[in-house]
Amino acid sequence: MGRRSITDRRILITGASSGIGRALARELAPHGPHLLLAARSQGPLEELADELLKLGAASARAFVVDVTDPQSRGALVGQIGDLWGSLDLLVNNAGISAHGRFTNSTEQTLRQIMEVNFFAAAELTRLTLPFLRRGQDPMVVNVGSILGHRGIPHNSEYCASKFALRGWSEAIRPELDRDDIALLLVSPGTTETKFFEHLISQEGQLPWGKTSGISPEEVARQIVRGIEHDRREIFPNWRGRLFVILNRICPWLVDRLMQRYG
Ligand SMILES: NC(=O)c1ccc[n+]([C@@H]2O[C@H](COP(=O)([O-])OP(=O)(O)OC[C@H]3O[C@@H](n4cnc5c(N)ncnc54)[C@H](OP(=O)(O)O)[C@@H]3O)[C@@H](O)[C@H]2O)c1
Repeated sequence: MGRRSITDRRILITGASSGIGRALARELAPHGPHLLLAARSQGPLEELADELLKLGAASARAFVVDVTDPQSRGALVGQIGDLWGSLDLLVNNAGISAHGRFTNSTEQTLRQIMEVNFFAAAELTRLTLPFLRRGQDPMVVNVGSILGHRGIPHNSEYCASKFALRGWSEAIRPELDRDDIALLLVSPGTTETKFFEHLISQEGQLPWGKTSGISPEEVARQIVRGIEHDRREIFPNWRGRLFVILNRICPWLVDRLMQRYG
């Protein structure tokens, strides 16, 4: 397949009100796509939709949705049916996290993180499949994390959710392939967004503390390249990539490093 075009493509992005999702919408807009922006915060979504039209989007609409709510997801998919009747790109990007020891955490925290980061992505993909099958060069983009490759202490719920997303992505890729639907897994490392201000609970810090990451704009640029070049997985952050490689080659060394922070 040649380079995937973004012009005139119909694209749904979850978690578009902030961070990587917002930066991705801005990066895509000059290519002239139709964008449906989903998240819970109406104001930021509407402001973004106006900005995207100025940047060149063929259309941009805000849709307020809590991706963990099945009715809300149903309404979002209904909107795709009403607007376009098909879908070219689904970007499962909405995500949350919590910091702290598993033993001090709660079932509620674990379930909430799994609902947003894993179940919502899986169920939205299931619901949009009939539209993706009718799309042009359709693709599902799942925003995972390097923490879907290696677990770290004080972030167990998040790691579990991103491992689940990666395993599920790998499992359904050949199934989607039968329908000519591609799947790109994005595995960013630390990215400078408000993600860490949006933690649903916070007790303690990650092993690497508050390392500075790369910008969401850089992650967005790499996602767009990944979409255009039909990539299967990308690691936008070289430090994150190095961490994953080190863990693959010397898992015992990373285990020992992590033990210091347990
Ligand atoms: N920042 C990092 O260091 C980093 C590293 C690796 C991977 N990631 C992944 O990148 C993705 C985006 O994160 P970010 O860094 O851009 O964080 P962010 O700025 O906090 O953005 C998260 C987005 O998810 C949306 N969201 C959260 N819960 C939602 C819900 N129940 N329903 C609908 N939307 C919801 C938020 O919108 P509302 O609050 O308006 O609903 C927001 O738009 C996440 O999947 C995250 O796991 C981030």
